[in-house]
Amino acid sequence: MAIVDMKGISKRYPGTGRSLALDRIDLSLEPGAVLGLLGPNGAGKTTFIKILAGLLVPDAGAGTILGYDLLRQAAEIRAHVSLVAPTADVGIDNNLTVRQNLAFWAPVYGLYGSAARQRISDLLDRLNLDTKAQAWPMHLSAGQRQRLALARSLLAETPLLFLDEPTNKLDREGTKAVRELIAELNIQRGVTIVLTTHVMEEAEELCTEVAILQQGQIRQHGTTYAVIAALGMVRPVQLAFQGDPKTMRSLDIGDFSGAERVEWNTGEVNELTVWTRDTRGTTADLLAWVMRQGYRLIRIHSARVTLDDVFQEVLEPRRTP
Ligand SMILES: Nc1ncnc2c1ncn2[C@@H]1O[C@H](COP(=O)(O)OP(=O)(O)OP(=O)(O)O)[C@@H](O)[C@H]1O
Ligand SMILES: [Mg+2]
Repeated sequence: MAIVDMKGISKRYPGTGRSLALDRIDLSLEPGAVLGLLGPNGAGKTTFIKILAGLLVPDAGAGTILGYDLLRQAAEIRAHVSLVAPTADVGIDNNLTVRQNLAFWAPVYGLYGSAARQRISDLLDRLNLDTKAQAWPMHLSAGQRQRLALARSLLAETPLLFLDEPTNKLDREGTKAVRELIAELNIQRGVTIVLTTHVMEEAEELCTEVAILQQGQIRQHGTTYAVIAALGMVRPVQLAFQGDPKTMRSLDIGDFSGAERVEWNTGEVNELTVWTRDTRGTTADLLAWVMRQGYRLIRIHSARVTLDDVFQEVLEPRRTP
């Protein structure tokens, strides 16, 4: 059974005219997925995540979260999911130390005694807050506060976790620690995760699937691989070789899988660039061609399609490279 199943979710904020923050969103997620919600500022990512967490009511649409009805069982949804927001100071008491804050929340999430102490120490350690255990929250840096908010949410051990820009204020070490924790929660504990990020590399590293939002609509959704395939993006494969360049004239673009266009430079080392929708197939075909011609291969390089390319392509499609 899908853990998240949404149909036709729309949201318009009061006083914003006719513009929709979310426009008929459909989304289904299987348990164990890590979904990356990507999109420019104002695309609707935070709005959507708040609706999924039962914190905001949509104007239209319906669905279930963990089997609970989105419209009628919002309280149950809130009790069984966690949300960490960028401004998540909610739930942090400035009159309690870092450790006391976590100790305060532990019983709320069903953790008592030594199990609670163990879990708190573990989270403080994992999030590099162990040296700040006795500090007052107002003496923490922005990134340390963000990690405390994350630690508080992770006490809950819910099966579904929403993270709104989990690493946006963090330094390299903090980013690494949080990414490791996210991967561990998913792989070892089977937690299903929806996260938003502006860092494509982060989505590529962590997410089993991505959804690209723009102006309240999902433009693409699938595994990174499927999204790349669906877009049919044209990328270059570059080849350098030595040999008589005259035979290059007989090169037929139809011999290379998915090829669209060929460019070459001749010289002591000949350079050939094939623009293709199938970098893998074209690379194999080019290698076979080099062998057939009896050329000496110097190097071959294919530009892997990154999530960054996909993001650009979805938001600002270009017809030719
Ligand atoms: N409380 C609100 N009242 C009115 N409009 C809002 C409110 N919250 C968000 N919006 C509008 O809804 C749209 C979607 O905002 P949202 O915060 O969901 O975007 P986002 O994708 O999370 O952007 P970002 O990357 O900047 O975090 C924006 O146009 C925003 O101005
Ligand atoms: Mg946002």
